[in-house]
Amino acid sequence: MLYSEKVMDHFSNPRNVGEIENASGVGTVGNAKCGDIMKMYLEVEDGVIKDVKFKTFGCGAAIATSSMATELIKGKTIEEALKLTNKAVAEALDGLPPVKMHCSVLAEDAVRAALWDYAEKNGIKIEGLEPPKEHEEESEISED
Ligand code: FES
Repeated sequence: MLYSEKVMDHFSNPRNVGEIENASGVGTVGNAKCGDIMKMYLEVEDGVIKDVKFKTFGCGAAIATSSMATELIKGKTIEEALKLTNKAVAEALDGLPPVKMHCSVLAEDAVRAALWDYAEKNGIKIEGLEPPKEHEEESEISED
């Protein structure tokens, strides 16, 4: 399986790994088929994501996509973060092999789950944000 240099870079040197104590929002998502789990922590101030950290127990692509997702939303507003798609994450990594695209979906959903938690904790409604979902419907996982 061929990975781009950016994927290898974010896999080998993931950015923003860790936890945020008393985070404004925490989201955990998992893919039932591969068993990979991603946890995203947000620190939000005045509607802006001041800091973001993640912990991923998963495949290399899951680590690279969560790392890139944190880079893409750091310093952004909630509205901007909400627009982050798995495709944008994959593109920012110069692409992913088709069988690994579902890993980027996990990254998008981890961000959304953390935003959802932030909204819940603060009693606010974020337009266009849906409750976190399970990933049982994701594509088949191929052997690499
Ligand atoms: S997220 Fe499970 S194989 Fe990548």
